Amino acid sequence: SAVPTAAAPTALPAASATAVSKDVTVLYGSQTGNSHGLAKRLTKKLEEQGFAVTLSSMSDFKTNGLKKVENLLLIVSTHGEGEPPDNAIAFHEFVGGKRAPQLDGMRYSVLALGDTSYEFFCQTGKDFDKRLEELGAKRIVPRVDCDVDYEEPASAWMAQVVAALSEGAGTGAASAGQRSGAQAGGAAAAASDYSRANPFHAEVLDNINLNGRGSERETRHVELSLEGSNLQYEPGDSLGIYPQNDPRLVDELIGAMGWKAEEPVPVSKNGDTRPLRDALLEHYEITVLTKPLLEQAASLFAGSGLKELLDAGREQELRAYIKDRDLLDLVQDYSFKGLPAAEFVSILRKMPPRLYSIASSPKASPDEVHVTVRAVRYEARGRERYGVCSVHLAERVQPGDKLPVFIQHNSNFKLPEQPDTPIVMIGPGTGVAPFRAFLSEREETGAGGKTWLFYGDQHFATDFLYQVEWQRWLKDGVLTRMDVAFSRDTDKKVYVQHRMLEKSKELYRWIQEGACVYVCGDEKRMAHDVHAALATILEQEGGLSPEEAAEYLLRMQQQKRYQRDVY
Ligand code: 2AM
Repeated sequence: SAVPTAAAPTALPAASATAVSKDVTVLYGSQTGNSHGLAKRLTKKLEEQGFAVTLSSMSDFKTNGLKKVENLLLIVSTHGEGEPPDNAIAFHEFVGGKRAPQLDGMRYSVLALGDTSYEFFCQTGKDFDKRLEELGAKRIVPRVDCDVDYEEPASAWMAQVVAALSEGAGTGAASAGQRSGAQAGGAAAAASDYSRANPFHAEVLDNINLNGRGSERETRHVELSLEGSNLQYEPGDSLGIYPQNDPRLVDELIGAMGWKAEEPVPVSKNGDTRPLRDALLEHYEITVLTKPLLEQAASLFAGSGLKELLDAGREQELRAYIKDRDLLDLVQDYSFKGLPAAEFVSILRKMPPRLYSIASSPKASPDEVHVTVRAVRYEARGRERYGVCSVHLAERVQPGDKLPVFIQHNSNFKLPEQPDTPIVMIGPGTGVAPFRAFLSEREETGAGGKTWLFYGDQHFATDFLYQVEWQRWLKDGVLTRMDVAFSRDTDKKVYVQHRMLEKSKELYRWIQEGACVYVCGDEKRMAHDVHAALATILEQEGGLSPEEAAEYLLRMQQQKRYQRDVY
């Protein structure tokens, strides 16, 4: 790599040393923490090369300083239907809007994270890349769009960025680089060796169904041991779990294709192989279809008719086809039988880990981590469909088994710094998980702030997750208030947002008193409706106009007084 040599500073003409700045600003927009993790890695790499790096979340960045930034590196993910993550919303709006300044003096590059199974793949990164160019900034390295398995392309982009910046920059800051390099080394000694790329095999201590008999739900409370891993987490962080595919689906797929379960197939680019059945169980994703996958399948298997589905003008149809179908559907619908297994697996995505909001506090449960996972099962096109990780946990994981896990830090969902700041927690269904962690932590640390939980699910009798714990915390004063909405116990559906609106005066008072509001759970419907309810409360009780209420919520988000962990 481009390690500066001792001779370099004197060899460079004085003018060029000042022409290109060693100051770099790295901004990230992150919902689940992936972009944040990458931004930290990039910062470390740049510092090792002697750059002075300002690392910041997009929401913490002061936009009036943008014009002065000479080197800007953006790492940003995309959510839902092409939306920016919460901590990128305001910055995305600013850069995209009329008030954005000309940026002729700026050099930049964008790393975009996304998922090819979504239509608006990497849209937020694309928006930034295009807009910065429009504003006059100069792209130093082409944007890289990453799919779920982002490690390799992200590392390649980082290497390119560091090389491009090093090329133009003087090396006068090399001593600073050594200094920060030593700091980084010190920090690394305390950190765990385990990560997303190198998961820890955690022993399952407990795995129970939280729902009562007769419930339509099955929600597993899974406790894992982190002993010996040195993995650290805080309430609000997530646990990444690498699951295994359903053996029934794997066997059907092998049968449908006429393959041999034991034949070796590649599982990495350096030629490692595994028996096909193991590779399909553990290594590859077989339950999600994406457009790039279909494109590659169509060219592997010309004449299958799949090519026609990819024709321009049939996007709607393609989208409908991809939804809720898996690889077995694909090979059956397009009679792929006969294709060699090794060729076929070469077009598959690597099995991505699933992230679950952690339900425990490490202070209350040292060396353990707990998650709350609802089994996803539904029928589509005459076949039972299963969520990969949730059903793996529900049906095939017992105490004593080991699961590959890692901690995904999430700085977007954290208890307030001050223990006496009031908190409002809105978490129906499994969305309640991080609030169990929050209250355990507050109990353990003796934090004095008021706490209010809104919880909901289908039925009081069978679906009140962790009921005994909430009631104990209510009694002990760790939980100040609790309002519940059981949607299917009454003629009319009641949801958490209805309870919030019923308590609008009081809720408004809490917000006025500086409460932090947390929302966790379903993104599309619940979080959207809860957001609307918060706006209504601000309008109704605070006399704000709809625009002012929207602005107020955005400000709360920026001040981290409104945080969401939604999926
Ligand atoms: P339902 O399935 O009876 O409609 C947890 O999953 C709870 O979230 C369930 O009680 C579910 O109710 C409810 N829910 C569904 N849609 C919702 C929405 N838009 N807002 C809030 N809760 C919702």
